[in-house]
Amino acid sequence: MIDLHSHILAGIDDGASTVDDAIALVNHSALSGVTKVLATPHIHFGTFDNDLASIKKAFAELTLKFQKEQINTAVAYAAEVRICPEIILLAKTKQLPFMGEWQGSDLLLIEFPHSHIPPGSEKLIDWLIKNNIQPMIAHPERNRDLWKFPELLRPFKQRGCLLQITAASLLGDFGERSEKLAWQLIEAHEATIVASDMHNLTRRPCKMKEAFEAVATRCSQAMAERLFTDTPDLIFNSNPTIWTLK
Ligand SMILES: [Fe+2]
Repeated sequence: MIDLHSHILAGIDDGASTVDDAIALVNHSALSGVTKVLATPHIHFGTFDNDLASIKKAFAELTLKFQKEQINTAVAYAAEVRICPEIILLAKTKQLPFMGEWQGSDLLLIEFPHSHIPPGSEKLIDWLIKNNIQPMIAHPERNRDLWKFPELLRPFKQRGCLLQITAASLLGDFGERSEKLAWQLIEAHEATIVASDMHNLTRRPCKMKEAFEAVATRCSQAMAERLFTDTPDLIFNSNPTIWTLK
């Protein structure tokens, strides 16, 4: 399996605090069959003020230790960018770390607030698409507005936004409403990938294996492979920052 959403860069957001924590997270996910992990730290102005420089620095620290400890998991970096007007400036100044490519466009992992969908989001998505940036919405099933009004996602689907579901949502870890919406999106064939969004081993570990089995049982093995392995692998392999053990 290939995990395209994780918080394994040490000390720059609410994920791994140290590189040793990151190694523990990655080793744990490897035990469940994850072979490639994309680091997607938060870029969330005022909360996690990351930029390309802070992400590159943390990634270099991570891979140095991975080499030393002979960690076999391939890693690369992107970011999980909180939706905000500043994204336009970041795009214009080439400061957005992309997940990889999607049909000739740069693929950007975008997060809505958990409470609502901010006004103006559709316009921002239009601007991104016009500028050759393909948005992928992180865990829409965890948004409280979408619990009540799932049809609010329709304008984003109509614009071609891709959807990332979080593995633990499918297992009920974020409550019944997230679980229900996650399965609705999977069963309607509207989800693009499933990823772990792992932060730590205690409250937010990697649940990819359990979620894969749940999708294979409830839907089909082929669908599980597409969501957890095939599509994420295509994206990961198009990322220009891949590191593997030498
Ligand atoms: Fe995340």
